[in-house]
Amino acid sequence: MKRTLLITLLAVALMGAFTLSIAVAANAPAEDVEIKFPGDKAKYGPMMFSHTQHAAIECEKCHHKMGESDDMTCTNCHNDVSRENKRNPDSFDSAWHARKSEHSCVGCHKAMNQGPTKCNDCHTKK
Ligand code: HEC
Ligand code: HEC
Ligand code: HEC
Ligand code: HEC
Repeated sequence: MKRTLLITLLAVALMGAFTLSIAVAANAPAEDVEIKFPGDKAKYGPMMFSHTQHAAIECEKCHHKMGESDDMTCTNCHNDVSRENKRNPDSFDSAWHARKSEHSCVGCHKAMNQGPTKCNDCHTKK
């Protein structure tokens, strides 16, 4: 009897620790993050992204390489700003604007019919 109780308590404690570690690992930044332009001549001012405004959406919808890569930025991979690469799926431009992909800002907003889709709704002049 005593032993069963001990095992139960131990199991509960272990499960608690496990859930806690998942919760910590899955935390999105509470503060807005700045998405940095990797080139040297940006047309617009800097862009802030809010995780709080997107809290209802699963991480993987945007961080589509989760599980495959520990990289939680987009811009380490999507860093090519050259004109020739603009249309390629791994370009800087595609990550935000690809109309047919639900991973991109514009693509998801269009698909869900929520969130801004017009240039000046997201971008501000420098
Ligand atoms: C709607 C899209 C979206 C969702 C949903 C989302 N993120 Fe993000 N996250 C981003 C963008 C965009 C950035 C900025 C990446 C960059 O600057 O390259 C970012 C940045 C981050 C960063 C900072 C990376 C760094 O090193 O600067 C972390 C950590 C992060 N997200 C974790 C999460 C977690 C955990 C979740 C789920 C709970 C989540 N995000 C959900 C889009 C999203
Ligand atoms: C580890 C590298 C890596 C990370 C991190 C990454 N991507 Fe990608 N992304 C790619 C590659 C490579 C492709 C090309 C298709 C594929 O392999 O899935 C791609 C494809 C895409 C596409 C499809 C574009 C199209 O034209 O169909 C979008 C949108 C996208 N990524 C957005 C993002 C966003 C937003 C983030 C960050 C929240 C992000 N990616 C993080 C490497 C990455
Ligand atoms: C997978 C879907 C998805 C992706 C990807 C996504 N969003 Fe959104 N976004 C939404 C939804 C849904 C809303 C509406 C949320 C609400 O009003 O509660 C929204 C709302 C917004 C808003 C308006 C918030 C407000 O208070 O009116 C901004 C700004 C925004 N998104 C920026 C971005 C940017 C920038 C990116 C890319 C880095 C992005 N979103 C990527 C789904 C997405
Ligand atoms: C839902 C939000 C959203 C919409 C709508 C949007 N973009 Fe973007 N755009 C981004 C994000 C996020 C970045 C990456 C951060 C940055 O570079 O400012 C970006 C980057 C850019 C860049 C490279 C950075 C610079 O300042 O030169 C250009 C150019 C650009 N967008 C043009 C456009 C144009 C033109 C439209 C309309 C046809 C548009 N965007 C619509 C979110 C958006």
